[in-house]
Amino acid sequence: MRKKLAAGNWKMNLTPNEARDFAAKLAPKTKGDSDVVFCVPFVSISDVVKAVEGSGVSVGAQNMHFEEKGAFTGEISASQLVGAGAKYIIIGHSERRQYFLETDEIVNKKLIKALEHGLIPIVCVGETLKEREDGITIELVRMQLKRGLLRLTPEDAAKTVIAYEPVWAIGTGKTATSEQAEEVCGAIRTLLEELYGKNTAEQIRILYGGSVTADNASELFAQKNIDGGLVGGASLKDDFEVIAKA
Ligand code: 13P
Repeated sequence: MRKKLAAGNWKMNLTPNEARDFAAKLAPKTKGDSDVVFCVPFVSISDVVKAVEGSGVSVGAQNMHFEEKGAFTGEISASQLVGAGAKYIIIGHSERRQYFLETDEIVNKKLIKALEHGLIPIVCVGETLKEREDGITIELVRMQLKRGLLRLTPEDAAKTVIAYEPVWAIGTGKTATSEQAEEVCGAIRTLLEELYGKNTAEQIRILYGGSVTADNASELFAQKNIDGGLVGGASLKDDFEVIAKA
């Protein structure tokens, strides 16, 4: 049975002090049957790791570089994240694809490096509104994953988390209906089965992200192929307690 996962993506919000205080207050309230992770800005990782100690909450980062180390001014490596106490890493978020020109090839390199260092990757995929209207959602998401997960062993695939985040639903208040979300997450499961076999595909957690709120979380997470959420705006509010419990 797959354990549900509630992941908060704090994006570029809160100073380290604000992050520490918010995390310390929220973490104990999220205790339940699900895994919970706060993906925080780099500069807040160490403080938040201390703030959530003993609560069962894990800490993650929102990006990393794919090289081991070296002359990459301004970048952060997987081993630096591990050293700071991060357990999870978001890879290929649509905001990184859109504003920082990340490609599926870069996603793939980051994924391989993250796994090498024992980080749990959350690989994001999803279509724009135009792509949905053009009727190519499933094909597009399959291609993002085929390229993004290239050369992954079934063992590594089993450790990877996939997040389906339709771009048109992110930060817009336009949540995908549970049918729309389940249709794509089901198609993702089918692809994972083609790539890694049924056993492995059944172990991989698939999250939905895009305007998840305290009101819509439980219906979304009740779908057969949705194993939790990747939450932006609502992860910075008390709503996240309700979402984690859903
Ligand atoms: P919102 O929950 O604010 O729509 O953001 C979703 C997201 O991008 C999570 O990674």
